[in-house]
Amino acid sequence: MSQNPSLRERVRSIPDYPKPGIIFRDITTLLQDPAGFRETVDLLVAPFEASAVDKVVGVEARGFIIGGAVAHQLHAGFVPARKMGKLPWETVSAEYDLEYGTDAIQIHTDCIARGERVLLVDDLIATGGSAGAALDLIEQVGGSVVGCSFVIDLPDLGGSAQLRERGYAVSSLIEFE
Ligand code: ADE
Repeated sequence: MSQNPSLRERVRSIPDYPKPGIIFRDITTLLQDPAGFRETVDLLVAPFEASAVDKVVGVEARGFIIGGAVAHQLHAGFVPARKMGKLPWETVSAEYDLEYGTDAIQIHTDCIARGERVLLVDDLIATGGSAGAALDLIEQVGGSVVGCSFVIDLPDLGGSAQLRERGYAVSSLIEFE
């Protein structure tokens, strides 16, 4: 599941960005590669093809790129989970912890109908703060989460394990330590 060499080698790793000690996993090099982007989307979709997904939720900003393509392929609708203050209609909000301070994301209250089957998609899961908040919002508006799909998992940061402890099906394509 998590060791896909052809995708892994297309991710650019940038030491000490955005600050010393962090190795930034840059997926722009994966996305700009036609075969890389197609294979990424195909592999993200595969585990959920028979899950009758109604809506794909993508987290701002890189989750929009991946999530839009996944939604198209699953014949599902796409729902953006956005940073505070960007959505024009009635919203629900959830805060999550950052290394220093907190952030928050929002979705529209009418973006998912009660009982609709929802797949959460993002490019990367680290501590799982934004993914956990997005899952809270999906359930708050009545969605039924069928799973969470990430291109990259940083398992040492514990986010994917936390989501599995909460009972969610979590899949990822590449792991980095
Ligand atoms: N988000 C959190 N940690 C990251 C990392 N190492 N690379 C890219 N995005 C991240």
